[in-house]
Amino acid sequence: MKIGSYQLNSQVILAPMAGITDQPFRQLCCRLGAGLAVSEMLSSNPKVWDTDKSKLRMLHGDSAGIRSVQIAGSCPDELAFAAKVNADNGAQIIDINMGCPAKKVNKKLAGSALLREPAQVERIIQSVVAAVDIPVTLKIRTGWCEDTRNGIEIAKIAQDNGIVSLAVHGRTRNDFYKGHAEYNTIKAIKASVSIPVVANGDITSPEKALQVLNHTGADAIMIGRGAQGRPWIFREINHFLATGTKLDAPSLSEVRSIVLNHVMELHQFYGDFTGVRFARKHVSWYVQNLIVTNEGFSESFTLDQGKSFRSIFNGLESTSEQLEALNVFFDGF
Ligand SMILES: Cc1cc2nc3c(=O)[nH]c(=O)nc-3n(C[C@H](O)[C@H](O)[C@H](O)COP(=O)(O)O)c2cc1C
Repeated sequence: MKIGSYQLNSQVILAPMAGITDQPFRQLCCRLGAGLAVSEMLSSNPKVWDTDKSKLRMLHGDSAGIRSVQIAGSCPDELAFAAKVNADNGAQIIDINMGCPAKKVNKKLAGSALLREPAQVERIIQSVVAAVDIPVTLKIRTGWCEDTRNGIEIAKIAQDNGIVSLAVHGRTRNDFYKGHAEYNTIKAIKASVSIPVVANGDITSPEKALQVLNHTGADAIMIGRGAQGRPWIFREINHFLATGTKLDAPSLSEVRSIVLNHVMELHQFYGDFTGVRFARKHVSWYVQNLIVTNEGFSESFTLDQGKSFRSIFNGLESTSEQLEALNVFFDGF
């Protein structure tokens, strides 16, 4: 699949996830086969750019792969300015967020609330596309609620106004994360436009990836929660799509090296205090995933042991304690 002039080397994309798809995680997923990794959303309001959180989200220079930066907001001029600033800072693609269901965001008519205002969607897209000379992509849900599913209308507005690729999370805003993703709606959206469409929602295995690609006719798929604690899912899906056979789960020694390197990168990227806190959630996902997916491992490690390791790990306050605990943990197998 191509986004503007950028050829992706895989059909599998890491979804933007605030608080998760920071630079270390994007780099890791790209190394493990993601064709593109979209940044966490960045508010278009310049007043918040001076916070530590925004400053780190606006560092694009050293990112791996193609640098796609997501912006969120409601004011066309503000979004256009944010797009320009990020393009000047090294973004290669600008992605506009019209999918976020959070009340805090929707209250300001940003994220998925925009789906209720097609005229504003058009104004925003026109302003952002005119402001930058890099490709602009859009991420949406299927509509605001069941009765107002207007994904097709929004997709056509997007295409007519210069959006080069559209990612669709197959739920309405009112669904939040409940129920199942609507692949039929994604299929209908794909059939209504000629720009590439990326299918998103509930893809957690190679088999499901193939099924969703076949069912929707989408050009690519996007994975969010399925990559938490399992960044190797990208290469597993790439392999399955290319060969029809399943790749073996990573060995424990490879997992150990991925986890330890990821944790060290988090410490370095955020600094000790915040890095330790970010490492907790990733380690918790890694441990949970090991129990569920790695057969050799789950024979010698139970859910209860996982819980107790996680609760000890979450109480550790320093980078060195975290690394030592992980080494002891992996030495135990
Ligand atoms: C913790 C979390 C944070 C998210 N942050 C964003 C975001 O910043 N921008 C966005 O467009 N979507 C965001 N999403 C939605 C995901 O990109 C994706 O559409 C959704 O999780 C469905 O895909 P999945 O079933 O593969 O997780 C977030 C999802 C989660 C779980």
